[in-house]
Amino acid sequence: MASSKKTQPVPASVQPRHFRSVTDLSQIELREVLTMADALKKDPLSHRHDLDGKSLAFYTEKTSTRTRLSFQAAIQQLGGNFMDMAGSQFGAGKEDVSDTAQMVGLYSDFLAARVFKHSLLSELAASSCIPVINALSDVEHPCQALADVQTILAHKGPRAIVAYVGDGNNVAASLALACSMLGLRFQIATPKGYELKADILARCRTFGDLVHVGHDPNAAVKGADVIYTDVWVSMGDEKEKDARVNAFDGFQVDATLMKRANHGAIFMHCLPAQKGMEVSKEVFDSSASVVIDQAENRLHAQKALLLFLHGEKNCNAIQK
Ligand code: CP
Ligand code: NVA
Repeated sequence: MASSKKTQPVPASVQPRHFRSVTDLSQIELREVLTMADALKKDPLSHRHDLDGKSLAFYTEKTSTRTRLSFQAAIQQLGGNFMDMAGSQFGAGKEDVSDTAQMVGLYSDFLAARVFKHSLLSELAASSCIPVINALSDVEHPCQALADVQTILAHKGPRAIVAYVGDGNNVAASLALACSMLGLRFQIATPKGYELKADILARCRTFGDLVHVGHDPNAAVKGADVIYTDVWVSMGDEKEKDARVNAFDGFQVDATLMKRANHGAIFMHCLPAQKGMEVSKEVFDSSASVVIDQAENRLHAQKALLLFLHGEKNCNAIQK
């Protein structure tokens, strides 16, 4: 007799937890994940069998170095396997979202996806019986934010003031949310027209009045312990390159701007960086720069995230 299995949305009552946004974690859960990330950094082998036999599927519509490799290392260091979806029918536009999401859940335990449109993550999650993890979208980069706040707390402690100079993009959005959840003041300067999205700002403000927006880099870095920037032209924005380079004139993080921050302020960047554009080579290579430690923390933070989400798989309810 033919199987009656059909692709269908996963009922809300049996949906696994997902990580599409930093705020898919509660404030307490975010601290738990960060505590685990620190423990894993100290003792990388401590949970090496926790995900034995599990696998993480990785789908991307964009290029990636750190996110792809750190997820690959993360699942492998926890005992599991990495399943690369490069070359999938889905990626070629030959299979729909719900069919794909359901199939991936038959073979694996987590789906990390890097997408152009954030709405695709929501669609994948709606039909997925395994946790869907945002590996970067046009709206947020929450995995990056986990490593970012791990780095900030380690270097500057729980009362750090964080300045962000540049585009109010995916990286800025997740960082603003994560800082707000942890009670860290976040001072952002963007050119006009490149501000944080209004709904991100509104969500930040549900955690307190910690995000201070403006258009003056000098004002943003005043009193700051951390200076953060990201590229002016994100993946998908390439057609706007000339307009953006023009708009971001005066927003480079250089030695003069660093001197306006607190003594001992650190420089952070999610990478990849365009040296000479959003950051001077001098600052990038300076002793203030913690970008390599920050990149390393992607691994520890994502291992902690996978351990947190492990157990959320709930495919029995739909595979009947
Ligand atoms: N920071 C970050 O996400 O890097 P990749 O684009 O190389 O993954
Ligand atoms: N804002 C950048 C981050 C890259 C990690 C982008 O979306 O391309």
